[in-house]
Amino acid sequence: MPNPVEVQSMFGRIARRYDLLNRVLSGGIDQRWRRRTVRTAARELGGLRDRDVLDVCCGTGDLALGFRAEGARVAAVDFTHNMLRHALPKSSGTQLVYARGDALRLPLADASVDVAAVAFGLRNLGDRRVGLAEMLRVLRPGGVALVLEFSLPPNRLVRAFYGFYFTRILPHLGALLSGDAPAYRYLPNTVLEWPSPEELRREFEAVGFEAARYELLSLGIAALHVGRRPAGGSGKGPGR
Ligand SMILES: C[S@@+](CC[C@H](N)C(=O)[O-])C[C@H]1O[C@@H](n2cnc3c(N)ncnc32)[C@H](O)[C@@H]1O
Repeated sequence: MPNPVEVQSMFGRIARRYDLLNRVLSGGIDQRWRRRTVRTAARELGGLRDRDVLDVCCGTGDLALGFRAEGARVAAVDFTHNMLRHALPKSSGTQLVYARGDALRLPLADASVDVAAVAFGLRNLGDRRVGLAEMLRVLRPGGVALVLEFSLPPNRLVRAFYGFYFTRILPHLGALLSGDAPAYRYLPNTVLEWPSPEELRREFEAVGFEAARYELLSLGIAALHVGRRPAGGSGKGPGR
């Protein structure tokens, strides 16, 4: 599991170039995946206007901005000051609350939001089960959790091609553009160690979410996981 001190220091170093690297290294698909995440939440809840949304590990705020554009009330939390510093100017003029905080101890009351979402953040947590349990805790009964994360494509050919890009090309491109080689070795390493979508779906259930499911995006390069806090549930699943 990633070391939080190292993770925080790494994102602090790459924050300035983070958005540019996302767009270049993914060819812009990352924003399409975030929009899909927002649309899925809207479908689950019958719209997002005036819904309370929490963006966990918000980084530079792209997912939070997507939710805000749909009329949601958005709070966004991250533990890296420099990432939040780059989020703020992008959000000027929008009503969006950023807070510095730990995803493993969210600074929110129990049952306070309708949506808890995380994009490319869960993989970085020291304990992803605690992260999921925290999302469950802050959700209102019937609320929806969404986790957008990289994945390994199920098709062997696509997987081989993707593996080549991810382990041979991306680290060099990332190092060149960010000036931080370790950060762009960390990305493929953590993705290669990441559980399969089915394993992660079972973790959702083990923590206490119901109707846990996932969809593969872009041939399985990414996966979007969705789970609901049971209506009337305590939010303190067996994972806590
Ligand atoms: C890959 S970035 C994702 C940022 C953003 N969600 C996005 O879609 O681009 C991961 C973020 O998770 C944050 N993070 C990692 N561990 C965290 C923790 N325990 N608590 C809060 N934020 C954390 C990092 O600071 C970083 O901003």
